[in-house]
Amino acid sequence: MNQRQRAVCFAHRGARGHAPENTLLAFALAFDLGADAIECDVQRSRDGELVIIHDGTVNRTTNGAGAVAALSCDELAALDAGRFPRIPQRIPTLEETLNLVRERGGAINLEIKGESVEDSVGTARAVEPILRELDEPLRSRLLVSSFELPAVALLKERLPWLRVAALYSGREWQKQDMLAPALAMDAEAIHPGVGLTTAELVAQAHAKGLRVNVWTANRRATIRKLLAWDVDGLFSDYPERVIIARAQMAALEAR
Ligand code: G3P
Ligand code: MG
Repeated sequence: MNQRQRAVCFAHRGARGHAPENTLLAFALAFDLGADAIECDVQRSRDGELVIIHDGTVNRTTNGAGAVAALSCDELAALDAGRFPRIPQRIPTLEETLNLVRERGGAINLEIKGESVEDSVGTARAVEPILRELDEPLRSRLLVSSFELPAVALLKERLPWLRVAALYSGREWQKQDMLAPALAMDAEAIHPGVGLTTAELVAQAHAKGLRVNVWTANRRATIRKLLAWDVDGLFSDYPERVIIARAQMAALEAR
């Protein structure tokens, strides 16, 4: 089996092209569609519960308003997170999400979020006890990442068994070395945005023993291009597109 056939399909915020993002429905649907893994974003409620939501506020994705960090776990749980498309859903907790992944036998990329580097480090500190309690096979199926690299480095330091990745976005990284920070914290992968990814970057990362998982690839042509560059994983709102492209390319290569 070559690299293209092995490329991991991460359902970005669940299958968010088909179900409300970062909800249990989106995660279950992702696995139903054949995704290998889900990607989700974790942050803290006012009372310290770890909840799965992307933005710093609940305004876009729920029927409520306000900062996630200003709302209690109960207040967040009372909101309807089923806006796009309109299917009633709750904001899940980290524990609920991990339970679903465990039940489905899948994998998960947990992205540590925060409003600043310090806040993200705070999220990482809060996540640590939950990760520490994980057992196999979930431990091996978990990959933790963050744009705020100190948050990831802290977790890797405290939990040496943890698989971690350095997440990158922003043009400034076009001119900076994305490999060195990942190697410095013993990451297994870099997670560059599509716009930061080139065939050269993939080859250079592989030469250093780093995997390359790229976000967010939704266009079929983009998915095919990245697979042709031998990326190790793709994040997509439409996981079925990755699965189909992967199978089509494998079939062509087998001819
Ligand atoms: O982890 C990949 C991707 O989710 C990072 O960007 O903004 O969608 O969390 P964002
Ligand atoms: Mg994310």
